[in-house]
Amino acid sequence: MTSNLTTLVNHQVRLAARPVGLPKASDWQFTEEAVTGPDDGGLLLQTLALSLDPAMRGWMNDGKSYIPPVGLGEVMRAGGISRVIASRNPAYAVGDLVTGTPGVQEYATLSGDALRRYGVAKIDTRLGTIGQWLNVLGMPGMTAYFGLMDIGKPQPGETVVVSGAAGAVGQTVGQVAKIKGCRVVGIAGGRDKCDFVVRELGFDACIDYKAGPVKDGLREHCPKGVDIYFDNVGGDILDAVLARLARKARIIVCGAISQYNATEGVAGPKNYLSLLVNRARMEGMVVFDYADRYHEAVAEMAGYLKDGRMKSREDVVHGGVAAFPDTLLKLFSGANFGKLVLQVAD
Ligand SMILES: NC(=O)c1ccc[n+]([C@@H]2O[C@H](COP(=O)([O-])OP(=O)(O)OC[C@H]3O[C@@H](n4cnc5c(N)ncnc54)[C@H](OP(=O)(O)O)[C@@H]3O)[C@@H](O)[C@H]2O)c1
Repeated sequence: MTSNLTTLVNHQVRLAARPVGLPKASDWQFTEEAVTGPDDGGLLLQTLALSLDPAMRGWMNDGKSYIPPVGLGEVMRAGGISRVIASRNPAYAVGDLVTGTPGVQEYATLSGDALRRYGVAKIDTRLGTIGQWLNVLGMPGMTAYFGLMDIGKPQPGETVVVSGAAGAVGQTVGQVAKIKGCRVVGIAGGRDKCDFVVRELGFDACIDYKAGPVKDGLREHCPKGVDIYFDNVGGDILDAVLARLARKARIIVCGAISQYNATEGVAGPKNYLSLLVNRARMEGMVVFDYADRYHEAVAEMAGYLKDGRMKSREDVVHGGVAAFPDTLLKLFSGANFGKLVLQVAD
């Protein structure tokens, strides 16, 4: 560790209170600490870019989930890409770029044990940019790939509907489904997002749920029904798709962003008996269950990026960790256009 590093100050964003509804300013606390060097086996990482994810809202709640909640007073959990700036681990050199879970802070000092716990792994920028490593080659891309392939099991000619279509997960779901020979209908908020997924990403159609009833769009664009629904939003849109299922349809329950800030309980699907009538099923998925297989999807999707069959759009906000609370809210208003990334350092 050089004397330069010991003078570094780490700015952090901590969870101060558990939000009710949308997170507000008083739910966050800004702190600063001196940066400490790594112990034997550990690394000191400088955060370059953070992944802002709808799941963060769930991590702020108390209660049982697929991952423990962020504790009050703890640095907010966040995935991201970092640069190794001090290494006491022979597997990493200063300058390496790594993916992991650095949290909403400028530096993270990790012990050797923590490297695995925080999913630290080197990234190869020949396969994709830092933005793409947070998007199609990162957690959202893995979610899209394994949710669609493992649960949806798409067959050529089938109709796939995906909500949150212009977002991080949705854009990759639709493009992989097209590559696998499916007909793809997106659902997104606003004409710009719908134009993007059809004109830029090659979806067959897109329903603007803010412009009119989703059921009308589904009737028009899915005349034979929906074989696979990749659900990112839940709520009324899920209900509309349930009412249009084809026989033996598969619904991937990936997320329900329309419900994450609900203060009076999550709204369940009213039309669930369509599962019975159509011999269909809904299945939840958590991307981390596929961690051992990420390399398979990364190899396949890096190939699509290279041959031009896969595009990616990131919405990069500059402003450092101080901009985190406001930037996170973009996900819930739909103000993000593509994978939401907070740039922390160059
Ligand atoms: N199960 C897993 O392992 C896993 C992993 C990653 C992500 N997810 C889930 O996947 C979903 C998408 O995540 P992402 O990272 O790709 O986010 P994203 O789609 O990039 O951003 C969120 C988008 O959700 C839409 N939205 C917000 N409020 C909405 C509402 N009330 N009704 C309908 N749409 C709404 C907005 O798009 P519009 O402008 O189109 O409304 C917004 O841009 C989330 O539910 C997330 O929790 C699950």
